[in-house]
Amino acid sequence: MAILVWLLLPVLFTDYTVAEKQSAFFIFGDSTVDAGNNNFIQTIPENKANYDPYGRNAPFQGPTGRFSDGLIVVDYLAEYAKLPMIPPFLDPSTSDDLSHGANFASGGSGILSTTNEGQAIDLNTQLKYFEQVAESLTTKMGASEAEQIISNAVYYFSIGSNDYLGGYLANPNMQQLYHPEQYVGMVLGNLTSSIQELYKKGARKFGFLGLSPLGCLPVMRSIAQEGCFEQANSLALAHNNALTTLLNNLEYLLKDFKYSNSDFYTWLLQRINDPSTYGFKEGKNACCGSGPFGGIFSCGGMKETTAYDLCEEADDYVWWDSFHPTQRIHQHFAQALWDGPQTTATLGPYSLRDLFFGPTTIADVVDADHPTF
Ligand SMILES: *[C@@H]1O[C@H](CO)[C@@H](O)[C@H](O)[C@H]1NC(C)=O
Repeated sequence: MAILVWLLLPVLFTDYTVAEKQSAFFIFGDSTVDAGNNNFIQTIPENKANYDPYGRNAPFQGPTGRFSDGLIVVDYLAEYAKLPMIPPFLDPSTSDDLSHGANFASGGSGILSTTNEGQAIDLNTQLKYFEQVAESLTTKMGASEAEQIISNAVYYFSIGSNDYLGGYLANPNMQQLYHPEQYVGMVLGNLTSSIQELYKKGARKFGFLGLSPLGCLPVMRSIAQEGCFEQANSLALAHNNALTTLLNNLEYLLKDFKYSNSDFYTWLLQRINDPSTYGFKEGKNACCGSGPFGGIFSCGGMKETTAYDLCEEADDYVWWDSFHPTQRIHQHFAQALWDGPQTTATLGPYSLRDLFFGPTTIADVVDADHPTF
């Protein structure tokens, strides 16, 4: 029966080329893109978001483990790519059919396995989970069909913040062992290994969410003497610059390697410093939290005795809690990533739309993505 349906598919789909080209979406990262994996691991309360008021503005009921008042950037990207919502890999209710992709991200995780060790799913483990998915696709669909899905899929990374915040700035031992520039090199070295490993397995299309201005997170602003915590911003900038160079080099070295990079740092700083220009009212204070700038990470009373403040209208805010932006920021950023180079968000060379659907013609690529100066 299955074989019969499969044979009929080309006839049934009037728009066969689109169906054939639909790309799966595999997500690796930290709390910026965790859709609920941490609900299923043993960890500290700070690494979970499956309680009120998380998710209170989501278009579905209740908190899901997303570190937002609603949806997160990858939910919007999946919608624009005409995919179903990409499920958390560890959720037992997730279907076995992962041919549309899977989300491996875990709040608190880092690129280095030493970052928040034992409290999150580190990047290496996330890659092992992907390997399991690749094997099960091969078993279910056969090698050539699985290879097709893997080479056509988009691999999205949003990770690194925890390596610099918890892993370095809050870790005097690490600061003794490594100068900041050595540490950045080590983080990027490990990220490079992960990219190469996926490439060896057939991955070709990659997307990257650059680090935000980490020193301007409400939690970091609250411990800075004045303004943003500059050392955290410097590390984020150094990381983002190194990532841009790395990706540019990989494009030369790895055949058919395609990527979309983004400047979340500049894009978000514009909204933090000048919220009203972008349709927000508050750029510095968190909607949910306590203390100066809502910088004490107590949203939802995760530490039981801690009281917390909650704003009325999260849509007016850049920051939802002490570490994470609001759903509205996630949505605006997803739109900018999708639309591509005409926004400050996308560094290119491809937009997310290009990665999922392919540029329409060679001329489009030349015009839009590789402008000649
Ligand atoms: C990856 O990180 C570890 C520390 O966690 C370090 O010892 C190793 O050298 C790094 N690898 C690369 C390729 O930079």
